Amino acid sequence: MDVNKTVGQPISRLEGKLKVTGAAKYAAEYQVENLLHGYVVNSPITKGKIINIDIAKALAIPGVIDVLSHKNRTKLAWFDVQYTDMDAPPGTVFKPLHNENILYNGQPIALVVAEDFETARYASTQITFEFEQEAFETNLQNNTEKGRPAKKGFATALKPPPPPPTGDFDKAYGQAAVKVEAEFKHGTEHHNPIELFATTTVYKGKGKLTIYDKTQGTINNQLYVANIFGLHYKDVRVLAPFVGGGFGAGLRPQYQLFLCVMAALHLKRNVRVVLDRKQMFSFSHRPPAIQKMRFASDINGRMTALGHSVYAETSNFEDYTEPTANWSHKLYPSPNTLFEHNIVPLDVYTPMDMRAPGGSTALHAIECTMDELAHKLKIDPLELRLINYSEMDPSSKKPYTSKALRECYLQAAEKFGWSNRNPEPRATMRGNKLVGYGMATGIWDAFQFPARVEAMITKDGKLVLNNATTDIGTGTLTVMTQIAADELGLSLEEVDFQYGDSKKPFSMFQGGSAITSSTGVAIVVAAKALRKKLLKKAAQMENSPFKNASDEEVIFNGGNLHLKNEPGTYVSLKNIIAFNKGKAIKTTNMGKPHMLKLRKYSLATHSASFVEVEVDQDLGTVTVTRAVTAVAAGKIINPKTAKSQISGSMIWGISKALHEETIMDDHFGKYINTNLGEYHIPVHADIGQLDVIFAEERDELINEIGTKGVGEIGLVGMPAAISNAIFNATGKRIYKLPIHFDELI
Ligand code: MOS
Repeated sequence: MDVNKTVGQPISRLEGKLKVTGAAKYAAEYQVENLLHGYVVNSPITKGKIINIDIAKALAIPGVIDVLSHKNRTKLAWFDVQYTDMDAPPGTVFKPLHNENILYNGQPIALVVAEDFETARYASTQITFEFEQEAFETNLQNNTEKGRPAKKGFATALKPPPPPPTGDFDKAYGQAAVKVEAEFKHGTEHHNPIELFATTTVYKGKGKLTIYDKTQGTINNQLYVANIFGLHYKDVRVLAPFVGGGFGAGLRPQYQLFLCVMAALHLKRNVRVVLDRKQMFSFSHRPPAIQKMRFASDINGRMTALGHSVYAETSNFEDYTEPTANWSHKLYPSPNTLFEHNIVPLDVYTPMDMRAPGGSTALHAIECTMDELAHKLKIDPLELRLINYSEMDPSSKKPYTSKALRECYLQAAEKFGWSNRNPEPRATMRGNKLVGYGMATGIWDAFQFPARVEAMITKDGKLVLNNATTDIGTGTLTVMTQIAADELGLSLEEVDFQYGDSKKPFSMFQGGSAITSSTGVAIVVAAKALRKKLLKKAAQMENSPFKNASDEEVIFNGGNLHLKNEPGTYVSLKNIIAFNKGKAIKTTNMGKPHMLKLRKYSLATHSASFVEVEVDQDLGTVTVTRAVTAVAAGKIINPKTAKSQISGSMIWGISKALHEETIMDDHFGKYINTNLGEYHIPVHADIGQLDVIFAEERDELINEIGTKGVGEIGLVGMPAAISNAIFNATGKRIYKLPIHFDELI
């Protein structure tokens, strides 16, 4: 019997209509009675102390309820508790309104609470602060001598330090036939999801709270609130059914959550706090980095030495780190290696994961250095990658569970027309535009977190699933519904995946491209247990043909349970539930990575990006006219939502290469382009033709469903491919991102 399969089909987002019609509600859109509105006041100074706060004028404004600051904040559990959140780096977490100390520019220093948002915002302008300012340091380049390795902590497993040195790097590099030494600089970037960070807290009395929050992790924020405010975790419910983008900014609870909950508990009222766009630049960001590269090869292009030293920003209170120097040796074998990742503490807020953290910064430097090496060797850049191709992970000496990178290279090169590339820079013109081709490799993790799923068949024969994960716009709802439908042989309409609620069984935050594998595997495990229960119940029915049937002898399809060899013999799921006195049959199960087995392997997704650019000879402006990215990420559950993830991250790659940067004015210790007018991101007219290819990759080892995740891998190779294409077009190699027209004139 053929069972209809939905996995592998390009299904449109099930919640798409709700989103485009505005019916989907976001954290700041819930109608709540007697709601108060909080407006955050941010520090205008970078370092020092608050000497005095005068709130009298603000309090006198009709409609203003209170102004909370470190002077009058209520006694809450927070300041005695060490707990922070599941993505906290080692260090001391930032505590809003803790005391008079200012640690960074933009730090929240007060919350005005009023009957409406406009009154709260106006009142915030009527508060007078006196500060005592201290000297500060915000410049990475000037402070590299403070660089040191990050302390180890809870998140170290996901963000390991670079591998130890091998061979004799200095000797090998010194004697190498061909070498490239280069230093790359990357600017700060701020996550700017379209949905502003916002929290609506419904005060239910007796320490009970329902919180609508903009977050990537409902349970992460539930535990944070419960722990720091000394509440029972069952009394705190965090809901995030729709999330307007995250990109990593929602992996940690942001300060509006803390301030909103504090005000709600203090005033015993319902409170909402929404940040404005400028305030979206007052917390986490991708850290600026300096990368010193030293790569060498023999005259045939075989790598003999890989050296990669990183200096990246962190705050003065937490050791943020990301895997950056870890990647080159996961791609290219080399007998001699030297990798370092140094963090440089500055007077800024702690950086945070942003789409492919570390990887997207690292691969720019690695793949531009490879391009320069290829140019010196007079070897085609793709050929150089193939000369150094490794089936196994050279850094761990372990085989990959699967690696279809070669297929990515070949399929994307073919589709792009790489063979037409002229290796000579400045040799191809189109009108007054210089045309260049560039390519680069991408590599990223393939994570899986433990997850629990409750699965049940209800009395109308439908499959209902529960899991606390969010869907930050990735297609999670659709993908989970597909996986579940296939497991029970149902149509998509017969499956109801419920999510975005901390009350539901465990999920980590949605990050690290991990949720398809995490919740997806838990669904498969739960579905298997559910099928067993349904068969057992069916076997108890009167004259049941399933009495002696084993799991392997039955099949679920079309809402029925069939004997495999006698498809005409069946019982409907509805009848099984009716026989169960109308009670749903349910099970809750855990899916988790098979650590013991996987310890013997290396796990990664791979990609290859090929880009054509046009550079205006007179103006230096760059246009990415077309790009092809091929991705190997195991099984693709939904080619439509997966393609959307990859093309979205390719666009971010264009942004990272050519547009996006938050500019720090080191004189004031302050970002100066904190708005979407001056923080440049590409518009529609900046994007040419984008093609996405999924190379076939069957991975029977990695997990029960063979998936590796597609959220981040599409970004990783793009900045280097663009930079390399600009070199091919102009003969200029620009060692920084973003690349601006003034450097190309
Ligand atoms: Mo992503 S930076 O793991 O949200």
